[in-house]
Amino acid sequence: MLRGSKVGLRARHEEDVPILRAELYDDVVNASRFEGGPWRPITPGSKDSRLAVNDEEQRIVPFSVVELEGDALVGTASLWDIDNHHRSAHIGIGLVPSARGKGYGTDVVAVLCDYGFVVRGLHRLQIETLSDNDAMLRSAERNGFVREGVLRSAAWVMGEFLDEVVLGLLAQDWKPDSKGRGDGKG
Ligand SMILES: CC(C)(COP(=O)(O)OP(=O)(O)OC[C@H]1O[C@@H](n2cnc3c(N)ncnc32)[C@H](O)[C@@H]1OP(=O)(O)O)[C@@H](O)C(=O)NCCC(=O)NCCS
Repeated sequence: MLRGSKVGLRARHEEDVPILRAELYDDVVNASRFEGGPWRPITPGSKDSRLAVNDEEQRIVPFSVVELEGDALVGTASLWDIDNHHRSAHIGIGLVPSARGKGYGTDVVAVLCDYGFVVRGLHRLQIETLSDNDAMLRSAERNGFVREGVLRSAAWVMGEFLDEVVLGLLAQDWKPDSKGRGDGKG
């Protein structure tokens, strides 16, 4: 397991899937804002591509997020679109509603940076988020991500086009001590 200061990132377990689906994807507004596509119902028991893990797939590494204290499941995190030529990847996070606003998102970004830059040797990490997603923007910026641009009206969300912000962090600009693993005790 990868450890931050508040949360850990571990493999996705089969029993996580129904909980994550109910908490993150059954809500139409929530799913529409964060999934980048139209909400649709998934039949219980059928394979859900948003949560199913294929260990053969090299371009994405999905994690489940758990609290270090008590081990409760609190969300998903991933490095996706991992490109070993350009040595870049994107970060995705979804915390269950009850786990938001406690500093976990900031911690998850820190752990994913550590995984991306140290474990995987990547050079660049990127985050795209809706321009009104203050919690995601702050979680990224607290870890050193900078806003690189705005994709105007790039996302169709529940009846309107919304702007997306692109944030990037380069390995040489990453300060691992600023957040997350911090003291190196993991
Ligand atoms: C976005 C998300 C990962 C952020 O994680 P979080 O644990 O809620 O955020 P944190 O508690 O670490 O807070 C980070 C910062 O945002 C601020 N913040 C938190 N919730 C906020 C809110 N609802 N509105 C405005 N600011 C907020 C915090 O005060 C903190 O700011 P600071 O660093 O200046 O102190 C989480 O809220 C989430 O999963 N949301 C739903 C899914 C989602 O948006 N995923 C990202 C898609 S790109």
